[in-house]
Amino acid sequence: MIKIAPSILASDFAKLGSEVADVERGGADWIHVDVMDGHFVPNITLGPPIVDSLRPHTSLLLDVHLMIENPELYIQEFVKAGAGMITVHVEACVHLHRVIHLIKEHGILAGVALNPGTPASAVKEVLPDVDMVLVMTVNPGFGGQAFIPNTVGKIRELRTQLQALGRPHVHIEVDGGITKETAPLVVEAGADVLVAGSAVFGQPDRAAAIADIRSSVGS
Ligand code: DX5
Ligand code: ZN
Repeated sequence: MIKIAPSILASDFAKLGSEVADVERGGADWIHVDVMDGHFVPNITLGPPIVDSLRPHTSLLLDVHLMIENPELYIQEFVKAGAGMITVHVEACVHLHRVIHLIKEHGILAGVALNPGTPASAVKEVLPDVDMVLVMTVNPGFGGQAFIPNTVGKIRELRTQLQALGRPHVHIEVDGGITKETAPLVVEAGADVLVAGSAVFGQPDRAAAIADIRSSVGS
């Protein structure tokens, strides 16, 4: 079963509550929350207070993608604010294994993300520990960028490694440039969670946009 996680980065931040309620009614599975610090990526978005304000407006899991340096300093705040899953970048963590376990000790799901320039081997040692691997299909920082086709091989490689470890339930999420045209490529390679910013929030009819992506992958 494929999950669709609309990214609020492409929503109208002035009416975040109703934007999130709209995609929940439209059939979204998770809400993807992009946190950027202006250091790890060249953009600034939002922090724990916004997640906290958003929490009562949806019953869906808040999938918090931390594109920040020193993510370990903010885990507790995001958990308190209502995150159901926190994903950290391998490129931002010196002590990746420790950070993943810190997230899990709070009783929520933990993910690890890789930039397009980072090989699958960079996360090999934590595959037994994570609930999700997030394969960035654009360079993080901005919505509305073009999908990088070269990332498909990495999705396939990670899915094979997870099968070999006896962990087929671990999610592989893709993020960046996902549309009804690119979704079939990543799902065929083994992705099961599709983040979509512009392809959902950029459309007037969000329910139709979600249904279009779902039907493109036969889900
Ligand atoms: C990019 C963010 C994405 C972004 C995706 O740095 O992590 O979640 O919102 O936006 P689209 O789907 O428009 O490429
Ligand atoms: Zn993201």
